[in-house]
Formats: sequence, structure tokens, C-alpha cells
Amino acid sequence: MHVIMVNLDWNNLPFGYIKTDHNVRSYFRNGEWSKLEITDSEHINVHIAATALHYGQESFEGLKAYRGRDGKVRLFRWDENAKRMISSAKGVIMEPVPMELFREAVFTAVRLNEKFVPPHGSGASLYIRPLLFGSGAEVGVKPAAEYTFLVFVSPVGPYFKGGVKPVNMMICRDVDRAAPLGTGNIKVGGNYAASLRAIVKARDGGYGNVLFLDAREKKYIDECGPANFFGIKNNTYVTPLSSSILPSITNKSLIAIADKMGIKTERRPIPVEELEEFEETGACGTAAVISPIAKIVDPDTGKIYEYCKDGKPGPVSMKLFNKLIGIQYGDEPDEFGWMTVVEV
Ligand code: PLP
Ligand code: COI
Repeated sequence: MHVIMVNLDWNNLPFGYIKTDHNVRSYFRNGEWSKLEITDSEHINVHIAATALHYGQESFEGLKAYRGRDGKVRLFRWDENAKRMISSAKGVIMEPVPMELFREAVFTAVRLNEKFVPPHGSGASLYIRPLLFGSGAEVGVKPAAEYTFLVFVSPVGPYFKGGVKPVNMMICRDVDRAAPLGTGNIKVGGNYAASLRAIVKARDGGYGNVLFLDAREKKYIDECGPANFFGIKNNTYVTPLSSSILPSITNKSLIAIADKMGIKTERRPIPVEELEEFEETGACGTAAVISPIAKIVDPDTGKIYEYCKDGKPGPVSMKLFNKLIGIQYGDEPDEFGWMTVVEV
């Protein structure tokens, strides 16, 4: 297959915005979603009283398209992102995007920007960003009557610098990203706004990101900035059970992979002190893939938890990482039925 590609430094792409050719949009007005609109504009015309701007009535998703050795472009578990966006919409009383519209928008955005899907072997991928927001005007606090759904894409490299190079994390007790009965389990912008103080503090301190604890008691691990947390001990993959973390599709997939590999899995509250017992720890998510953690620093207690003392990721994390990206890039059989080829 001959693919005409744009000229980018594929092996050194940042995790950031790169302009592509097209994005797609649909509008919910008068009780129905409009036909998909294709545009080359990077801008939207938003009402000054849109509920998204004033009251944060919005949600977004993140998924990736991967180019295989065979030149084909594959999407990873797009239906899980579609379902999560429905759950996010319901969580902040927005009009949910029907699965079929989500599918059409995502596949169209990838197809129209096929030349931006990084080559196989570069370690990069095409990040897909669906966005849903209240675009109807209100001044009182209430759900909008109109919604905008759009999908743009951007070629990206790894989220954490260095890819699978282990990163350092800082435990944070003075900021909560989400409350136990709040919106932490859905993907809405407010959670990310709430996390910024902690993220900036961690970055300023030279850390890769922040490790949030449960908001109620500060006793248990919640998640790692924009990724879920996992720890490995005694051939067991352990990941937090919490009502204030995002149900990560990557984490759920790693659990399935671990299970199949004969690694035990546990989803349960993880007390902070258990960090001492893990042989490996990591952050996982679409953007993060698996980012092994070298060191977790607790500035309040002065404790430092160290992993990967030789500077290398642990063996179980690497096994899981290789299997996951093997499936995503089409190098391994799609034994779970997670991949969909985008016909271009
Ligand atoms: N946790 C948060 C707060 C996130 O923003 C993300 C990214 O989407 C994740 C976890 C990982 O979720 P997923 O694996 O579905 O990308
Ligand atoms: C993702 O992994 O898709 C995310 O949403 C992380 C992000 C907020 C950059």
C-alpha cells in the first residue's frame, strides 16, 4: 500500500497539538443531531453565554489510531470511548452523543487526516480528541438546550517524556481533583482544571506528574494526573478501586492481558503505605500508555518509594506494555477483538 504522508519528525513528536487538514462537527438543536459537517477551520463560533464557558458543561475523550506494519490504520476500542462519553454526558446533564454518530465522526476524522497517522515503528500515533459541550445560551445554572460535538486529531508522541523511561511522581495532599460523589469518574474538563495547581507544583518540583490520594481520608491511592495507577507485587497486578477516578480503558485492557498471561489481578483500595511493598509501579492511559514510575516522593512525610533502581522499567510492566502496543500496532494477534481497521 502506498501512503502519501506529511513530512514530520515522526520519531520525536511531542504530545501536543499539530494542525491537521480537517475536523468534523455535529450540532444538537431542536431535539436532533445535525448531519456531520467537515471543516478545515481550527476555530468555533461560540455564544458568549454558552453553558460550557460559564458552568463547565462539557466532556472530552481521548483515543488513538495506529499504523500497522501492513500500512493499515487501526483504532483501539473506540466503542469504549463512545460509551464513556455517554456516561460523561449523563453526569453533567448533556445530550449524549449516539454511538453511531461518535463512530462516524471518529472514523471520518481519521480517514480525512490519514496522512497524519505516524508510520509504523516511530512509536507515535494519531491522537483523537472528541469534544462535547453545552453551546446553548443560559445565564441561570441549568443544562443547555443546544450541544456541539466535534472531533479533531493530532499526531502525537509519548505523553511522559522519554516514553517508557521511568518517571518520578509527587504525592499531593493539598489539592483534590475530584470529590467522592463528584465528577472524578467521568471525563469532564472541571476535573482537569481542579488538577492544575497540583500538576504545576509537581512539574515545578521536577516531577513527571502528581499522584492524587482519595479526597475523603487521604489514605488511599487515587490516580496519577491524567492516568490510572497500578502496582505489581508477587506476580499480581493491583489497581485502585475508587469512585473518584476515571475508569481507564487502558487499565481495563491491561487487566485482561495480565489475566491471560497468568498474572493475578486485583482492583481494590490501595493504602499509601502499600507503596512500600510494590516491586513495580506505573501510570497507564491512552496518552501515557504505560509509564513506569521510578520514584514516588511524599513531601509531607518525607518518604521516598523507589522502583526501577537500575533506571529500567520492571519486567512485568514491560511484558504488559509490549503486549498492549503489539496488539495496538497490529504486530500481535488481536485476540480480544479490540482493533477496528479504518478503511481509507
Ligand atoms: N485518568 C484520567 C484522569 C485520564 O484523563 C485518563 C485519560 O483518559 C485516564 C485515567 C486513562 O484512561 P484511558 O486509559 O481510557 O485513556
Ligand atoms: C488520555 O489519555 O487520553 C487523556 O485524556 C490524557 C489527557 C488529559 C492528556
